[in-house]
Amino acid sequence: MTRDEQALEEAEAGYRESRALVAAEAEGDERAVESALRPRTLQEVVGQERVREQLSLVLQAALARERAPDHVLLSGPPGLGKTTLAMIIAAEMSSPLRLTSGPAITHAGDLAAILSGLNEDDVLFVDEIHRMSRPAEEMLYLAMEDFRVDVVVGKGPGATAIPLEIPPFTLVGATTRAGLLPGPLRDRFGFTAHLEFYEPGDLELIVRRSAGLLGVALTDAGAAEIASRSRGTPRIANRLLRRVRDYAQVRSDGVVTLEVAHRALDLYEVDQSGLDRLDRAVLDVLCRRFGGGPVGVSTLAVAVGEERETVEEVAEPFLVRSGLLARTPRGRVATAAAWAHLGLQVPPDAYFGVAAADDDQTLFDAEE
Ligand SMILES: Nc1ncnc2c1ncn2[C@@H]1O[C@H](COP(=O)(O)OP(=O)(O)OP(=O)(O)O)[C@@H](O)[C@H]1O
Ligand SMILES: [Mg+2]
Repeated sequence: MTRDEQALEEAEAGYRESRALVAAEAEGDERAVESALRPRTLQEVVGQERVREQLSLVLQAALARERAPDHVLLSGPPGLGKTTLAMIIAAEMSSPLRLTSGPAITHAGDLAAILSGLNEDDVLFVDEIHRMSRPAEEMLYLAMEDFRVDVVVGKGPGATAIPLEIPPFTLVGATTRAGLLPGPLRDRFGFTAHLEFYEPGDLELIVRRSAGLLGVALTDAGAAEIASRSRGTPRIANRLLRRVRDYAQVRSDGVVTLEVAHRALDLYEVDQSGLDRLDRAVLDVLCRRFGGGPVGVSTLAVAVGEERETVEEVAEPFLVRSGLLARTPRGRVATAAAWAHLGLQVPPDAYFGVAAADDDQTLFDAEE
């Protein structure tokens, strides 16, 4: 592991909690394994063709001009490769990578210290950039645009701002919530890469690549099976691969076949669509106990014995994305696909409602 990677692990640890086997967020001890599996060059990155091509143009042009590339914003759900791409940007530019994260920057002074320590052409990676404090954000605008920070000395009426030049650098920001970034900050990025969930074929390649690096023997059908249950997310694919490998070693001859992958993932309660126990419990309660809804999320949470936040943030996003659950103005409802997933008949009086226009917005005119 390089020093960059070690620093990264330390920076990232501590503000994420561990969750289920299919959680898209990384678990504490997972980071060491992840860094071993990270592609190191743009060429090695599987999938995300569009982003790869766009990014490669930005970097090649900057190399040709012998200038630091424009600031880059990497946006997308957890586990799709934002950190990986940030490290690749620095590697492709042969520039040192400095790492920090939004939650680590609580005062503008923290950021001033980081910025004033930069050297020319450094790549500064700010993970979870949407979680930075407002004064730090404002300082960052200026730094991104004018390569300058105003260091405030003193307090009250006697305070003075001393401008400090900083060498040209490239900011790489990563965010899972681009919508939370204030416009002025978003506008100062020369290029925004939107990462998409991966196609099963790409995930299969990722599983095979990771198996090669981990020295796991696996058949194509075994790889495809793991890929299809990985929710479009490389991090989950790699995690499931490791769990299936354990199973193969202990209960079989070490080779990950279709059969072994099936048995292992059934044991870990990750179903054919990538739903885990909580996801299925939510669907089950929604359909069997509440007739498919509509029902409030708090009620659902009590019924499955979980916190409201867990249901809302852990289970729901994937259920919504899979078209199994819908958020409507009157509450959560099961879709026809949900009934089918549970092997149940849709009751004649099932309410499907009007899906809310925006995922985060449930207050909306029901008459529309
Ligand atoms: N395109 C890819 N090809 C191969 N492996 C990938 C790819 N994208 C991600 N991975 C693997 O998935 C793991 C997670 O990726 P990464 O840490 O970059 O995600 P992230 O978007 O930064 O997630 P988070 O939002 O949680 O920080 C990495 O260990 C890497 O091995
Ligand atoms: Mg990351």
